[in-house]
Amino acid sequence: MSEARELIIAIDGPAASGKSTTARLVARELGYTYIDSGAMYRAVTLKALRQNIPVDDRNAVAELAAKTDLQFGTDNLNTVIFMDGEDVSEAIRTPEIDRNISPVAANAKVREILVEKQQKLGRNGGVVMDGRDIGTVVFPNADLKIYMLASVEERALRRQKELLQKGVKVDLEKVRADIRYRDKQDTGRAHGPLKKAAGAVEIDTTGLTIPQQVQKIVRLARQRLEKQDI
Ligand code: DC
Repeated sequence: MSEARELIIAIDGPAASGKSTTARLVARELGYTYIDSGAMYRAVTLKALRQNIPVDDRNAVAELAAKTDLQFGTDNLNTVIFMDGEDVSEAIRTPEIDRNISPVAANAKVREILVEKQQKLGRNGGVVMDGRDIGTVVFPNADLKIYMLASVEERALRRQKELLQKGVKVDLEKVRADIRYRDKQDTGRAHGPLKKAAGAVEIDTTGLTIPQQVQKIVRLARQRLEKQDI
């Protein structure tokens, strides 16, 4: 029996589909590294805002992305992202970043730079990476590709609950509108748009619990690993 290679697992899906929580838990269960590709787009957006670089200045933002050191680490089982050595895990999750990130994510040069970093981070396997273009662009040959989706209503309710737990009260209609806006931006851009990758397994998480989602993916991963061993 040959030694099984550790898998590359790509998880894509729209905003608030539960990707990151699921991906993190799948990685934990398999003993793999979780890589949150969205955090990289968020960090570049944060750096541009801090340096007063307009997020739609394509060349300046691309230059910034090329000069930024991005590393992932862990802190008490949580994944943290370091931008030029600074832990920015919390600073990148603000409404200001959400509002400014779309032009950064639509910037072809920025995508090229970040895709290359993501490929370097994942090429040896043993990774679960989530995002919008992981199965289509970053790792089209991933061992397991998942496309997670859920209804707008379900995603809006989940996001509202998540915000409430942080003490932020928001109107459901506003959350719904934000999700629809982000879906439009993510699926409509020319470079790396969100779409189901060829060969991806679709998981509709509407009505599923997080442990159910995790187990579905872990089961698929174990099946792939067993196949490798034959
Ligand atoms: O997954 P998230 O909400 O943290 O992603 C933040 C933004 O980054 C989102 O607007 C889409 C974009 N993104 C992307 O374009 N490609 C990825 N692989 C991951 C995220």
